Order: sequence, then structure tokens, then C-alpha cells
Amino acid sequence: MYPFGVDYYPEHWPEERWPIDAQLMAEAGFNIVRLAEFAWSRLEPQEGRFDFAWLDRAIEVLAAHSIRVILGTPTASPPPWLMQAHPDLYRVDDQGRRLTFGNRREYCPNHPLYHDYTRAIVTAMVEHYAEHAGVVGWQIDNEFGDRCYCPVCRSAFQSWLQNRYATLDTLNSAWGTIFWSHVYTDWSQIPVPAATGGSPNPGLALDYDRFASDSYVAYQQLQIDILRRRTARQFVTHNLMGFKYDKINYYDLARSLDLVSWDNYPRTQWSFTAGIDPSGPALAAATMYGLKGQPFWVMEQQAGPGGWELVSVMPRPGELRLWAYQQIAHGAGGLVFFRWRTARYGTEQYWHGLLEHDARPGRRYAEVARLGAELRQAGEQIQETRVETQVAMLLSYDSRFAFQIQPNNPGYSYAEHFQAVYRAFHERNVAVAVVDATADLSGYRLVLAPPLYVLSPAVATNLESYVRAGGTLVCFFRSGVKDEANAVVNRPLPGLLAELCGVDVTSYDSLPAGVENSLEWGVPELAHAAPGIGRAWADILTPGSAEVIARYTQDYYAGQPAITRNRYGSGSAVYIGTIGDSATHATLADWLIAQTGVPVALTAPAGVEVTARNHGTRRLLFVLNHTELPQEVKLGRAYHNLIGEPTPLEGTLTLAPRDVLILEKAE
Ligand code: GAL
Repeated sequence: MYPFGVDYYPEHWPEERWPIDAQLMAEAGFNIVRLAEFAWSRLEPQEGRFDFAWLDRAIEVLAAHSIRVILGTPTASPPPWLMQAHPDLYRVDDQGRRLTFGNRREYCPNHPLYHDYTRAIVTAMVEHYAEHAGVVGWQIDNEFGDRCYCPVCRSAFQSWLQNRYATLDTLNSAWGTIFWSHVYTDWSQIPVPAATGGSPNPGLALDYDRFASDSYVAYQQLQIDILRRRTARQFVTHNLMGFKYDKINYYDLARSLDLVSWDNYPRTQWSFTAGIDPSGPALAAATMYGLKGQPFWVMEQQAGPGGWELVSVMPRPGELRLWAYQQIAHGAGGLVFFRWRTARYGTEQYWHGLLEHDARPGRRYAEVARLGAELRQAGEQIQETRVETQVAMLLSYDSRFAFQIQPNNPGYSYAEHFQAVYRAFHERNVAVAVVDATADLSGYRLVLAPPLYVLSPAVATNLESYVRAGGTLVCFFRSGVKDEANAVVNRPLPGLLAELCGVDVTSYDSLPAGVENSLEWGVPELAHAAPGIGRAWADILTPGSAEVIARYTQDYYAGQPAITRNRYGSGSAVYIGTIGDSATHATLADWLIAQTGVPVALTAPAGVEVTARNHGTRRLLFVLNHTELPQEVKLGRAYHNLIGEPTPLEGTLTLAPRDVLILEKAE
């Protein structure tokens, strides 16, 4: 059975309503419900007095309809009695301001007292539910994030640094604290990089970001340990925030979870757009899959317009189903909609669920129920399959944190750059895995490494071995600039990658908004391609053993190389010294696909995504029409549609707007 469900807040509604809700859920095909992740004040209304009776009854009502439950530990939303009694539990933000009550995620993840209260509620919950047949898993907390800069964190940071550097001499020299007379003579002098201290030392700032990430990893581990001591049968997950979230190293956070889940909102009040770039949720899914190299769940899949102060655009007919299938196509092994019924109260009054405020099941409910019926038919076959890729992109949280501290150019965003490179391959229906820079790369024909700005010797060696063994690596400007302490390296750029790339970055130019430099291609395969564009950054390259792929045509460095390729061992390393526009990314993607022979799932018109999931010799092609027009897709051979009529499809088929097919070769 494919896990398919919804997030439910029975505590928001009269108990008489619960059986009606459960009945409607079952009719929609739901077999799983997440409960309780914000219910601390109901579960422990007073310190030490626990009340699980209402939750037991809710679980029973659901169980009567064969719906099983994931329980959230409720620590993202501490109750007023706790925060009133201990105001120093409130987080301090990066401006140095102590938060007050009224939202959620207001706690300091390092506070020993918060740990005590966490132990108490989590222990009480798991002791009550460890043996409960209806409870299949746990979600720890909710969407970890937000750095804290309080005095407790400051002293925890100092201990973290002692652990990392052992001596102050080592720390002072790694950070270069001689600059502006910051030489520390006692660990207790070391500050946190809140805005009250101005622009911090980059070494200190990067270590703080790592420490803040580690703090949530440790806080999560505290909860995992409590759960694992008492239950082996139930799985443990946390709901992450896809590719975009950039304050936690998700590789570290995912390591001790049984499975990764994430929250998918393609269109919200914060991204108030009519159209959607389908490569956004696709990249998020690839990132989530890559954390453990395994199918992930979507724990919150958009169910309606999202909104707090504003009401975002209504999902168009077909979009909820399409967005859900896109996640399944990219490896979702379970799918849970957020939320069941639209809340009448609270900050999320306008974050719409499947049912309206007045509980009516309308168009969105019907669309999701259709999906439920389809998954009953095809879900098990889908579940056996995995996503296979021959292209990888390397995600480096060290580099991402370091670019937050120093973007280098006001127009540069690591995340947007990453997305733009990914998009070019996504638009060509080439599957791309997103993996850690230390991952085993030997299975990939092509590896794209958005700027490895902070580069460790271990990663440099990993890349070298990959290329030597025959791989094609693509590096970008600002790679190898920093060592692990976020100091600039004392060698020609791209630092530890210079020999591999066969190039010397002799100089560079940081470009103002609106200034571009056009690129002239220098290899025969690109002779007919339109000239490329360079923006934001221009590395001026002197090739050593590398050949020139493109040259700048303007400014004082006209004629100098912008892109090079170096043969190294049995492979090659491409170096891209600037950031292109979308057409340039497309030209480079086409060239790299042709050079490496990586597979295209199916050639389809723009806006039609085709993604494959495989199992042995079985191959399912998910064909997703992201446009609002019918699209013609050439099949090339006969297929049948796992979620459609049994008659085989061949030749050219017309895919309705926002429609989805799951194709398997007809025998
Ligand atoms: C998620 C969060 C949910 C809900 C939703 C809509 O990020 O996990 O609890 O807040 O967004 O805002």
C-alpha cells in the first residue's frame, strides 16, 4: 500500500466531527495521518500532567477506518506555561533581539532546561504509544531552523570551538584574528556573530553557522535517542524544507533519521506568482532523495492556497494532482497533504486545507480523491522503483553558508545559481541527483559542482579521483577560494583544483547589475550556438594544460578565456569562470549532454517533464504536463498507462493540460 494521507488537527474541531472526517479521509484513499506536532499545550496542559486521552480517541477513530498515524513530537511549539516560567528559553535572533511569545520555533535549541522539558514530553509520549499498533512512526519537532544567538549558545559555541581547535593558538591562526586586533586569550572572549557586533570575521561566522546547524542535529538526536530506546518498530523522521532551506546542513540532519520527509509548497503567499517553475520542486525532491540516496516522503504536500496575511493564488484544476505526481516521479515513497480542513483560527487561517473552513469537500478534495484511487491501483508498482541518475550536482553547505556571509557580488546567490544549472538539465528531461561533495561519484558520467567556495583537501581528492577514472567534472568560478576555516588560500586559484582544471585564475572582475560580457565559443561543436553571456562575475583565465571553450569579447579582458576544459587522467574537468543567462546554461547543458552521452528520459515539448523510476528491467516514465495547454508527445514505441485505460498508447499522444501519465512499455 502506497502511504497516502493528510495532516490532521483533531484538537481544533469538536469531537463529534472526527468520525465524519475519518470517513471522508478513507473515501479519499488516505491510509495515513500525521497528528499532534503542535499539541504540546493539550498533551501537557500543566507541567508534569500529561493528557493522552483525547489523542487516544482520535487515533481510535482513524483506526476504525484503517488509517494509521504518525505522531509529531510537539517541541516546535512550547506551551505558554513553560515560556512564562523560563523567559531565558526564548531564542535571540541575529539582530541580538530576544523573542517573545506569540509564534512558534521560539526556543533555543541548546538550552539545557529546554532539553529537560523535551525529555519529559517525548518520554511520556513514547511510553504511551510505543506499543500502539495504530502508530507507525514519529516526526521529530517541525521544520528545524533559525539560528539562536543567546548567552547559552555563546558558551556552547565556545565549547564547540575548543573541541574543534583544541588550542586558542590554532583558532587564532586559522581565523587570522590578528586582523583588527581580535586575538583571543581566553575562550570566553569569543563572541557570537550577531548584528550587534558588525560584519564578523569570516572564520568565526562560518564556524558559528556550522555550530548552529550542529545544535539542531544534536537536539534532534536527543529526541531520537529517547524514541529509539523504547521503540524499534516505529520509524523516525523529521520534516525538512527542501533545497531552499539554507541554515542547516541537511546531510548531517538526515544521517540518523530512518527516512527523510519534506514539505512541498509550490505556490505560497511568499512566492506570489501565477506560473510556477517546475524545476523548483524537482530540485527540492532531488535534494531530499540525495540526503540518504533513498525515497523520501512528502509530509506536507500543498492542498490549497497557502496564506497567513495574504491568500495565495488558488491551485488551478489539476495542479494538486500534478504537483503530487511530480514528487512521486522524483522518488517520493509516501505523500501526506497539508492540511485536512482549513483552520478557522490562528495565524494560518488562510492556509487552506482540502476541506474549506465550513468543512465542505469541494474540487480540491475530489482531485486528491482521484489521486487516491489511482495510487490504490498503481502505488505498489511505483513503490518498488527507484530513481537512477548518471548526472550529479554537488551540494556544499560549507560553501553555501560561506556565501551567505560573503556573497562576493550583490547579484550572486548560490541557491539561484544552483537552481539555474539544474533547470537547464531538468528542462531537457535529464535526471540529476543532488549529493554531498564527499559522496562516491564513481557511478556518474557527469558531475556539476556549483562553486566549491570552501574546499577541503578531502573533497579536492574526491574530485581528482573521479576525473582520473574517466568522469566529466564541471567546476565554477569562486571554487577553491577558501580553506575550511574560511580563510583565502595562499595559492593561485582555483586553489586545490588548479592542477585538475589545468587553469590559473589570474584575475577576476565583479560585475555591476546590468553589465554583461558576451562569450564567443571556441570549439567546433558550438560553432553554430548563439554567443553566450557572462554576468555578475568574470574570472580571467590563463590556461595551462586546458583548452579554451569560450572567450570574453568585451572590456579590457576581451579575447581572454572564460571557460576551459582540461583532459586529466581518463576524464576531463571543465571550468566555467562566469555565470551565464538561461540561454548560456542551455547551450552548456546541450554540449555537456552530447559530450558525455547521459540519457534523456524522453524528448518532449517545453513544459512537459518526463522522469523515470526503475526497478530491474522495469521502467516507469512519468509524463507531466506543467502547462495549461494540451501538448503533443511523441512516444516512439507502444506503452500502457498505469493510471489510465488498458489500451496501449503509441505514436503521438495529446496530453491534456496539467495531466499526468505513468507509462510502461507495452509487451
Ligand atoms: C509548514 C509548516 C506547517 C505549516 C505550513 C503552512 O512550513 O511545517 O506547520 O505552518 O508550513 O504555513
